Amino acid sequence: MMKRYGPWALVTGASSGIGRGFALALAERGIAVVLVARRRALLDEVAAEIAARFRVSTRVIVLDLAAAGASASLAAAVADLEIGLLIANAGTGWIGRFDLQTLETHTSMIRLHCESTVELTARLMPAMKQRGRGGVIIVSSMGGLIPVPYYALYGGTKAFLLNWGEALAIEMQGSGVDVMVVAPGDTKTGFQEVAGEMSTRWSSVEDVVRQTLEGLGRRSLVVPGLENKLSLIAARFLPRSWLMRMVEKRQREQTPRERR
Ligand SMILES: NC(=O)c1ccc[n+]([C@@H]2O[C@H](COP(=O)([O-])OP(=O)(O)OC[C@H]3O[C@@H](n4cnc5c(N)ncnc54)[C@H](OP(=O)(O)O)[C@@H]3O)[C@@H](O)[C@H]2O)c1
Repeated sequence: MMKRYGPWALVTGASSGIGRGFALALAERGIAVVLVARRRALLDEVAAEIAARFRVSTRVIVLDLAAAGASASLAAAVADLEIGLLIANAGTGWIGRFDLQTLETHTSMIRLHCESTVELTARLMPAMKQRGRGGVIIVSSMGGLIPVPYYALYGGTKAFLLNWGEALAIEMQGSGVDVMVVAPGDTKTGFQEVAGEMSTRWSSVEDVVRQTLEGLGRRSLVVPGLENKLSLIAARFLPRSWLMRMVEKRQREQTPRERR
């Protein structure tokens, strides 16, 4: 890992959940980590844990990636580091009907999930390509596979990441830069509380991170977990109208009544 994707990795959304899991797993493999998110106290805790357990370097960068110019500032703040792996993971959700949310919330999600991921990739990948080694992991979601009522925009942004990322993976074949999309299903993190979702079945962060890192350099898409893999097959082979009915039923169960 270190030779192929080191010496530094940059993980967005490293203060919590899956991003925190990636940061710890990479540090365990000897890779120094740039930790990016908005909550400094949590980032500092992750940095302290990495220092205590793995003794590798970290750099904490506190940034709202949905803000104008944030990705450019981030690229400038790591210009002195050799970033061999970008994990574009920061994300957020809000379960409920599109028309109940503000325009600012919608555009902010598009900036965070789509614009910032594209911009960071465009800014950090050229140096990897020049070195002939590196990787980009794009965190999409099972919600990107088919339309998801009550997560309409969230699912739309994740579908963008899935399609763009898998196409990019093919374009970059032979360049030395491994691009991969990961589409987790429900995973127990801070996400559900922020989104207001009422899920009951979970993957663990550790499983999602392990399966993703195992797939890096081998696959362009990783869907962690057996149940999610079966859903992927269903999404590809079942008629869309059936799927939509099943997804709507499940989503209604997970959406608080006042948001339906
Ligand atoms: N958990 C699931 O069930 C699940 C399923 C499929 C896909 N995913 C995806 O996995 C990714 C990680 O989510 P998670 O489940 O680990 O949730 P989480 O525990 O809530 O973590 C989200 C991370 O993103 C950061 N973030 C959110 N908005 C940000 C902003 N504007 N600027 C910078 N950082 C921001 C958060 O940090 P701060 O709040 O400190 O900024 C936090 O570190 C997301 O892209 C999510 O869509 C999650």
